[in-house]
Amino acid sequence: MGAGSEPEAVISGRGVCKAFADGSVVAIESADISVQKGSFVSLVGPSGCGKSTLLRLIAGLIDATSGELHVHDQLVSAPRQDVGMMFQRATLLDWRTSVENVLLPTELQGAVTDADRKRALELLTLVGLEEFAFSFPAQLSGGMRQRVALARLLQTGADVLLLDEPFGALDEFTRERLNLELLRIVADIQATTVFVTHNIAEAIFLADQVYVMTPRPGRIASIVDVGFGRPRELSLQTTPEFNRLVEEVRVTLGAL
Ligand SMILES: Nc1ncnc2c1ncn2[C@@H]1O[C@H](COP(=O)(O)OP(=O)(O)O)[C@@H](O)[C@H]1O
Ligand SMILES: [Mg+2]
Repeated sequence: MGAGSEPEAVISGRGVCKAFADGSVVAIESADISVQKGSFVSLVGPSGCGKSTLLRLIAGLIDATSGELHVHDQLVSAPRQDVGMMFQRATLLDWRTSVENVLLPTELQGAVTDADRKRALELLTLVGLEEFAFSFPAQLSGGMRQRVALARLLQTGADVLLLDEPFGALDEFTRERLNLELLRIVADIQATTVFVTHNIAEAIFLADQVYVMTPRPGRIASIVDVGFGRPRELSLQTTPEFNRLVEEVRVTLGAL
């Protein structure tokens, strides 16, 4: 890839296109993307602009129609162990406890060791669920279930996290709290993160860079650098600088 200009791009895409339905639906038109190691990128845009498609391309769940996508300098052609994805609704198994759900990816790989079990409990502590490790999904709130899903994602050892509106189905208070915890966790494990949302303020609050996407055809209309330091507090959202960025993104989205 680029001769030294982006030395630590963990995710890089050039001219990535994705068409569906024999080419009649262009979900992604020529996207360029570069996500540095340890950085946090938000994809924001209205419903149908191709956010999930771009995430699924990065995850190797679907193939690009044209263009090239690399993760850790390797062409993406299939799902990878070091890339994990999380969705709006946690797909937990109802008959398994939190810790058994977290251990599921390990089990699919082979025998579960004591070390795996210890790690799963540590991850449940990391997401604030130490007291619910042996609870079943039905005993958990929506926010707690998403925490379990996050712990399960981390159990795979993935250091590239692809999060598709992970807290989008939760109430605003829960979502804000989980966003703060997510920032703490990704900093802790030095993950490289791509986070999809249609919420402009959320996209900016979390990210180092916001990719603003527009629909028909889905394209990256602009990339907004978010220069705020870390750790961040919710009060950041009331500052003029923050609102200026919100406005900038809004203008891009409105200028269709
Ligand atoms: N498997 C598919 N087959 C056909 N069209 C699809 C498929 N997946 C997504 N699309 C279309 O691609 C566009 C982008 O979808 P999507 O990536 O889900 O958008 P977003 O996540 O931003 O809401 C939409 O027009 C959608 O209908
Ligand atoms: Mg989507």
